[in-house]
Amino acid sequence: MRAPVVLTLASAVQAQQLYITTTGYTARSECTAAPATPSYRYATSVPSPTTTKTYAPTYDEALEIYGTELSTTTWGSWVPGKTVITATDTDDKYGQAAWSSQWQDASLINYTTIGQYTTTVNPTPIPSSELVLPPRDPFGPTDCYDFPEDFMFGVAGSAAQIEGAIALEGRAPTNQEKLIEDDRPKNYVTNENYYLYKQDIQRLAAMGVKYYSFSIPWTRILPFTVPGSPINQQAIQHYDDLIDYVLEVGMLPVVTMIHFDSPLYFLQNSSLDATADIGGRNGGYGHPEFVEAFVNYGKILFTHFADRVPVWVTFNEPLLYAFNFAGIHNVVQAHAELYHYYHDGLNGTGQIGFKLNNNFGVPKNPENETDIEAANRFNEMQLAGFGNPLCLGEQYPDTLLSTLPGSFKLTSDQLAYFANTTDFFGIDPYTATVVSAPPGGIEACARQNMSINSLYPYCVTQETTTVHGWNIGYRSASYVYITPTYLRSYLNYVWNTFHTPVVIGEFGFPAYGESERELQDQVFDTPRSQYYLSYLSETLKAIWEDGVHVSGAFAWSFADNWEFGDYTQQFGIQVVNRTTLDRFYKKSFFDVVDFVGARKGLGY
Ligand SMILES: *[C@@H]1O[C@H](CO)[C@@H](O)[C@H](O)[C@H]1NC(C)=O
Ligand SMILES: *[C@@H]1O[C@H](CO)[C@@H](O)[C@H](O)[C@H]1NC(C)=O
Ligand SMILES: *[C@@H]1O[C@H](CO)[C@@H](O)[C@H](O)[C@H]1NC(C)=O
Ligand SMILES: *[C@@H]1O[C@H](CO)[C@@H](O)[C@H](O)[C@H]1NC(C)=O
Ligand SMILES: *[C@@H]1O[C@H](CO)[C@@H](O)[C@H](O)[C@H]1NC(C)=O
Ligand SMILES: *[C@@H]1O[C@H](CO)[C@@H](O)[C@H](O)[C@H]1NC(C)=O
Repeated sequence: MRAPVVLTLASAVQAQQLYITTTGYTARSECTAAPATPSYRYATSVPSPTTTKTYAPTYDEALEIYGTELSTTTWGSWVPGKTVITATDTDDKYGQAAWSSQWQDASLINYTTIGQYTTTVNPTPIPSSELVLPPRDPFGPTDCYDFPEDFMFGVAGSAAQIEGAIALEGRAPTNQEKLIEDDRPKNYVTNENYYLYKQDIQRLAAMGVKYYSFSIPWTRILPFTVPGSPINQQAIQHYDDLIDYVLEVGMLPVVTMIHFDSPLYFLQNSSLDATADIGGRNGGYGHPEFVEAFVNYGKILFTHFADRVPVWVTFNEPLLYAFNFAGIHNVVQAHAELYHYYHDGLNGTGQIGFKLNNNFGVPKNPENETDIEAANRFNEMQLAGFGNPLCLGEQYPDTLLSTLPGSFKLTSDQLAYFANTTDFFGIDPYTATVVSAPPGGIEACARQNMSINSLYPYCVTQETTTVHGWNIGYRSASYVYITPTYLRSYLNYVWNTFHTPVVIGEFGFPAYGESERELQDQVFDTPRSQYYLSYLSETLKAIWEDGVHVSGAFAWSFADNWEFGDYTQQFGIQVVNRTTLDRFYKKSFFDVVDFVGARKGLGY
């Protein structure tokens, strides 16, 4: 018979320690051999406010550099059946009537509702009960590296996926409202971040995150898109307030100028579903007026906000919406013009770059020349169209020139103008893909088109299993597999190819079946923690063992959101209740901040 278990004084003290609060980040016993003490901790808020720093001239000075007067006005809101706009200014091509008819002409499917809010919600402090760190996973990374001092760690989101309020306060239609033409969810309401942004930012600051990456919709700032059309006063006020609030809580803003949400203006004469040569979605980037209009829009953003914004992203994943060679070339041209304007015109001291989509292509059999060639083609076509001219001042890659109709070589003047016009090379390295040559070979496919060959234009076979038949990594609800070691290879590839500091612009993991689980189980998202911690640990190895310059990483997304017609692929590090719109922190949010904080990477 065994003696009954009783608490001794010593074990009672130990038990008591379960309730002792500590501060700071997780002790790294693998590095210091410090004994682990059972305890609980609270997340540490970012110190506030942000130390004021100016990155470019303030509005009045910047306006002189812009060169002409900017006219500003306001328009109404448009909700069929709820808002009646009796505009009489039919002679004004930028008036209320013209604005309303943009929405009428867009004729959205089922658009009759707005969300719960019509004005900015005052933020409330985050109760400390929400900020207790969750139990740790039993195993984790064992690296002993710290992040470089100037590393930018942050979280990201994009306007069309979170804002809602699509037709309120003067915003004009974008292609995102037209993206989903069947029964799937639209972007009309999403997270109502347009009115809840202060609360959302509070929640990030309370968790200790320094950088918040968001996008501004072009059609909020310029409802009529084109140069010379009036600026929307309410939109300027909104993003002024948003940026100021980010600074007030102690964070720093990262602004993306376009995140798939092209003005519908560019698409009014072309079918959204016309055949593409590349990308697949028509963002209107190839439109003859696109470059001038985008550059004007970018300059207006700089004029109003560049004094307070340290990091700018011109284009998000442009290839997906480029549609054809003209689209790619216009993106390159517009990006370079804005880089020159920012650094040479405004003497901006922040950073400006782009971020590209590419699930790193790895050869199916790394010892097979054909597979290696296929992987190189796959990566080159997605990255080098931008990286060659904008980083290296080099020609568009042969793979693009020989595959895309209407492609042309850059002149030496263009090459000189484009060279060195990005401060960082952004990638969104969600996962890796296993690549080999297609049936019939690359050459034959490259002479075809999308309507006769679904592998065109990349002309490679993509798979998710290795040459030995295993999945490439742990699978999510979508195309994402957990592939941390390939991330390290990818970072090496980008740095060694384009010699430009690499920013991980987005990375994230939609855990399988998460949306079907109860809230308690959704927030205990161990697979997502494994994704983030393993990716960041491999990033540190790339930095310190391989000498790759990685200057930042942004977790996607700061909350579950509208995933282009879907709410079940949850990439968020917070849950959002679709009825109440309440937000809940997931365990991975605590884990990733703790990981970065323990390695001195939070930037304060
Ligand atoms: C439109 O709304 C109705 C009623 O909510 C719904 O049954 C239908 O599926 C919706 N159609 C589309 C295309 O979203
Ligand atoms: C679209 O077509 C109309 C009518 O042909 C024309 O007036 C308008 O300028 C075109 N818009 C664009 C953006 O090409
Ligand atoms: C930018 O710097 C150059 C060289 O230092 C100077 O001549 C120019 O006036 C500056 N422009 C602005 C807008 O500060
Ligand atoms: C490489 O793989 C291709 C198929 O992708 C195959 O046809 C070829 O025989 C392989 N080469 C070698 C040397 O194994
Ligand atoms: C780009 O910048 C690098 C480093 O400043 C310099 O060595 C190189 O000559 C520049 N390239 C061009 C084409 O201007
Ligand atoms: C959202 O919140 C409502 C009200 O609290 C609750 O009834 C519902 O179950 C929640 N939805 C989910 C998916 O948790």
